[in-house]
Amino acid sequence: MFNSSEAAPANSFIYSTKFVRPGGRLKKNSQNARGSGTKSLLDSAINNEIYEELGDRWYTATDDPVALLRAEERVLTKWVAEKIAKQNSEDIRILDVGCGAGFLSNELGSHGWNVTGVDASKSSLTVARTHDGTDSVAYVLGNGYRLPYLDSSFSDVCAMDFLEHVEEPSSVIGEIARVLKPGGRFYFHTFNRNLLAYLVVIKGLEWFVPSTPRDLHVLRYFIKPSEMKAMFKDNGLSMASVRGFGPRVSHPAFWRMLWTGHVVEDFEFEFKRSMLISYAGMAIKEAASSLSTDVTAEQTRLATV
Ligand SMILES: C[S@@+](CC[C@H](N)C(=O)[O-])C[C@H]1O[C@@H](n2cnc3c(N)ncnc32)[C@H](O)[C@@H]1O
Repeated sequence: MFNSSEAAPANSFIYSTKFVRPGGRLKKNSQNARGSGTKSLLDSAINNEIYEELGDRWYTATDDPVALLRAEERVLTKWVAEKIAKQNSEDIRILDVGCGAGFLSNELGSHGWNVTGVDASKSSLTVARTHDGTDSVAYVLGNGYRLPYLDSSFSDVCAMDFLEHVEEPSSVIGEIARVLKPGGRFYFHTFNRNLLAYLVVIKGLEWFVPSTPRDLHVLRYFIKPSEMKAMFKDNGLSMASVRGFGPRVSHPAFWRMLWTGHVVEDFEFEFKRSMLISYAGMAIKEAASSLSTDVTAEQTRLATV
């Protein structure tokens, strides 16, 4: 029986259609990112190096965008855990891709589930392990472009605030679809791409949160919900639910942050109707039979053209 720490054979990787970002091009280092180690992953237009330097500030800083990530995760973690618990399955195997310092993985581990967290930042994984209260999560240094697992290894895969950190999200989604078993679920959160998202998520953080590093986010890495849906379809996933997500602006902690530059523990995020700035959702991997039906339908269509 395959165990989730076992490496997949090289020939089990599938490569999906590339999603080329608007205004973007395939960078030299993104080619490296597919095949090599952590250094090249951290060397892209977006600043992924900061995660190596955060240390315990992942869990303690209030003047850093990571404090907003913690606040987001308080809500997203609960949402994912409820969805997984509802499946009422005996065979839950969860992969958290781009797990960072383990906010989600450690919480899911505390439910007694089999959880693996993969990230390209070694020092973040060390912090994650330190905060794993059950000492049960398998933390693995790895690359979202080449997940070291066999096909259909996981019942659930999560990627929170991760897809906007990679050059080729479609390739990463292809990998996620590959390691998900048919009928398995993919939970995600990311940012929409438009002027408002630029002003709020990029400029807003630079203006109001003092320790915001350069290139924490890059607009062209943000993903429109329609693009996300298309990438899912290309990779045999179907969007099952999606909702807007953002800070509760009626809460005093939101206004206190604007005034003091500190994100305190009662800062709240919530699901919203509008997906204009950010959104979270769940996709399901189509059963093998419906995938082959799609292929057959496509072959029929091509044959009749
Ligand atoms: C914004 S953080 C999100 C962390 C975590 N998901 C959370 O919500 O707290 C993005 C994470 O993606 C990781 N990362 C970036 N590119 C990666 C790649 N190609 N493969 C694996 N991890 C990557 C970074 O090291 C960082 O920990």
